[in-house]
Amino acid sequence: MRTDTAPTIFRQDYTPYPYRLPQVRLEFDLAAESTQVRSELRFEPAPGTAPGTPLVLQGEDLELVEVRLDGRPLAADEYQLTDDTLSLVPPGHGKPFSIGIVSLCHPAVNTTLMGLYVSGDKLFTQCEAQGFRRITWFPDRPDVMARFEVLLRADPAVYPLLLSNGNLIEQAGLPDGRHQALWRDPHPKPCYLFALVAGDFDCIERTETTRSGREVLLQVYSDKGCREQTRWALDCLARALHWDERRFGLELDLDRFMVVAARDFNMGAMENKGLNIFNAAYVLADPDTATDAAYRGIEAVIGHEYFHNWTGNRVTCRDWFQLSLKEGLTVFRDQEFSADMLAEGLPPAEAASARAVKRIDDVHTLRLAQFPEDAGPMAHPIRPDSYQEIGNFYTATVYEKGAEVIRMQHTLLGEDGFRAGMDEYFRRYDGQAVTCDDFVDAMESVYVQRHPGKDFSIFRRWYQQAGTPRVRVRSHYDPENRTCRITLEQRCAPAGLEARQTPPPQKPPLHIPFAIGLIDADGRSLPIHWEDETRDTVVLELREASQTWTLTDIPRPPVLSLLRDFSAPVILETDRTADDLALLARHDPDPFARWDAVQETAHRHLQACMQADRDGNPQPALDDLLEIWRTALIDPTLSPAYRARLLALPALREVIDRGDPMDPRAAVAAWTRTRQTLGAQLADAWRTLYDAMADDGGPYSPDPVSSGRRALRNLALDNLLAGQASGAAELALAQYRQARNMTEGLGALTALLQHAPQDASGPLADFHERWRDDPLVLDRWFGAQASAPGCTVSGVRALMALPDFSLRNPNRARAVVFRFCMDNPGNLHTLEGYDFWAEQVLALDALNPEIAARLSRAFDNWARYEPVARAGMQAALQRVLDAPGLSRNVREIVSKALG
Ligand code: PHE
Ligand code: ZN
Repeated sequence: MRTDTAPTIFRQDYTPYPYRLPQVRLEFDLAAESTQVRSELRFEPAPGTAPGTPLVLQGEDLELVEVRLDGRPLAADEYQLTDDTLSLVPPGHGKPFSIGIVSLCHPAVNTTLMGLYVSGDKLFTQCEAQGFRRITWFPDRPDVMARFEVLLRADPAVYPLLLSNGNLIEQAGLPDGRHQALWRDPHPKPCYLFALVAGDFDCIERTETTRSGREVLLQVYSDKGCREQTRWALDCLARALHWDERRFGLELDLDRFMVVAARDFNMGAMENKGLNIFNAAYVLADPDTATDAAYRGIEAVIGHEYFHNWTGNRVTCRDWFQLSLKEGLTVFRDQEFSADMLAEGLPPAEAASARAVKRIDDVHTLRLAQFPEDAGPMAHPIRPDSYQEIGNFYTATVYEKGAEVIRMQHTLLGEDGFRAGMDEYFRRYDGQAVTCDDFVDAMESVYVQRHPGKDFSIFRRWYQQAGTPRVRVRSHYDPENRTCRITLEQRCAPAGLEARQTPPPQKPPLHIPFAIGLIDADGRSLPIHWEDETRDTVVLELREASQTWTLTDIPRPPVLSLLRDFSAPVILETDRTADDLALLARHDPDPFARWDAVQETAHRHLQACMQADRDGNPQPALDDLLEIWRTALIDPTLSPAYRARLLALPALREVIDRGDPMDPRAAVAAWTRTRQTLGAQLADAWRTLYDAMADDGGPYSPDPVSSGRRALRNLALDNLLAGQASGAAELALAQYRQARNMTEGLGALTALLQHAPQDASGPLADFHERWRDDPLVLDRWFGAQASAPGCTVSGVRALMALPDFSLRNPNRARAVVFRFCMDNPGNLHTLEGYDFWAEQVLALDALNPEIAARLSRAFDNWARYEPVARAGMQAALQRVLDAPGLSRNVREIVSKALG
């Protein structure tokens, strides 16, 4: 939809739909150029609907053929058609009536990948959030739930397989040579969960027995020839099914559950009822083509979409402001699934560290993607109050911070209490379209019952407030009374557009579960006496702007281990010294807090480097971090996967984001130099570790132990190259040649591109030759180059000029354009880089506004940059905003950025 003025939609303006839609029948005559859709909608007035209340349906980019009311064709003056609606006044008798519509849509020219579209020689749909209206006129809102019956007709030579939601009722040939398939979904659903797929596919399947003893059919569909690459996905699906039964008591409510891989897809995947459509990147894997991380990514996304079947589909959203109701909760569930899969079968101590690896990765994502969002012009509460384009609110805030808000409820209620809250949620709301408040109501009912006298009401503020709160920690140890006094103070600066209000809005304090522990100077845990128990970790519940706790019977002066397991999505402010952090980095029994102490030490060093550069002083010593790394490198008690996290420098983007002002060039310099020093100073240790982590020669498995070893070995290689150790490039070349899986091969290629580009050309050419016909692997080849420090704007343009490149395929655009704009700050932050960004946003916007809007967000935080970058980014944003025919999607982002 192109428009010059985008109206703002407000959460407070919600009104229920005046009509109910118990039953829908859709008939599709499928063809790529033009598909005819015949719909039969059985409406009835909702209780209280006055006679004469208009019926309004949404439609976009459609051709209307015919409208009928109770079978009678309507004349053109009996209904109203606008650019995006069809409305009419139904009969006033208060009884059910039916609307029949015949319309056309044009999949082959639909480059937005919303609605019905062509990918390769297949047809797919994408309806969330508002794509169904591109298929036919319909009440396109999540609170209108209907039973769907879908008849698909097509040429069997082109579309031998015809899939839709629910159960296949019948399949038959037609006299005209076409064939048809009739699908019925027994569960009422909003139209955003509708799906159809047509084309020629490979399929693997298996049956599983659910815990009530039902046999269910699980299927994974992929391009012809990709069957063997879908085994892992099917395996993940079966594990997800049983995990949801065990952990949440939730059973599959369908006889058949299908996953289909699509090459062209805007997002990760989509939870359409019984017919999930996936970005092929989250389905296809084998050892030769997929990295260990890709295997884990598939597990997470397969789990995520499967878990939506209850959290999203059985209980759905009343309106799109409630998006986090399903997304935050389902991300939390997929995080827990992944953590449980990593920890499965391990003894408790090792299981805790395995789970911590997942927690570290999730927090890392949050800090990388969500914290900057909360600090920029698009900041919004996890339940937004307004939007112009809902497609712009599939954000890290709604998803990842939303999951943190669920996790805090899990922390406050405990595993049992949370489970009871979930049971209550389904008991109350199954089959309904509800709100975030309804979810918290269910949790609160359990909380107040189990914690008499305690109040849960202010917890809801997490749904209302944007911005990342800061928690300041002060402590005082009194040796005479053997007490430790801890004061927590919270504040949250105005976020996003709030910052422009005068006076700035007052933000009431949040309910923050703050987990702490104490260790002594020798690194031993100091037990804490708390609520008649002795514990190593306690959760302080901060509910006011400032609160003080006094811990008693503390025999020795403690060092505070803070925000254990990242118990709340906040930024810490502490007066911990470098020595305190070093102690925690060596001894904190909480694996998350231990990792965070190392991260904090690295951040402090990197900021000190930048400060020294600005002041013209010599570079600060690296001793603290070096010593921490030296010990961790060879600590055999730490799992390889955990060690790989402990020994990772913060991502460059995080380092840039911490700057005030943000200074990408200074950050690149400091970061590069630090990596070089660490690599060089620890070269011997890295080399020993590299050899120790060598593959044992067994068959590939993505399990946490062997993938941890590969991660650590790739890290060692990267450090050896960064430190220019002698023979490092040869080592990388040998690893590339001898690679037994994609993790090793890509690890070597990436390290070469990052640190020794002069040696990368051989492997690069070889890689292309070998994988030119596998789009997902080719994406890796593109991405590794676009994000390499040697790739300038002309370099990225050269990649885009290759015949393999296309802006129409979102994965390819992400691999090249996005990787350059997000992961190559040294080259993006040039005048040519800013021009390149603006040009690509506009080029993408003409094809696919959702994808263009995501790229446009790369400049959200322009105002926080140093003056030169700031001016360049501002000018580029203005250039985009001034362009004619901008989509609503990009317009919202860019106009909010410029204020
Ligand atoms: N609902 C999908 C998910 O999170 C994401 C999605 C949104 C996919 C919009 C496509 C379009 O699982
Ligand atoms: Zn989701």
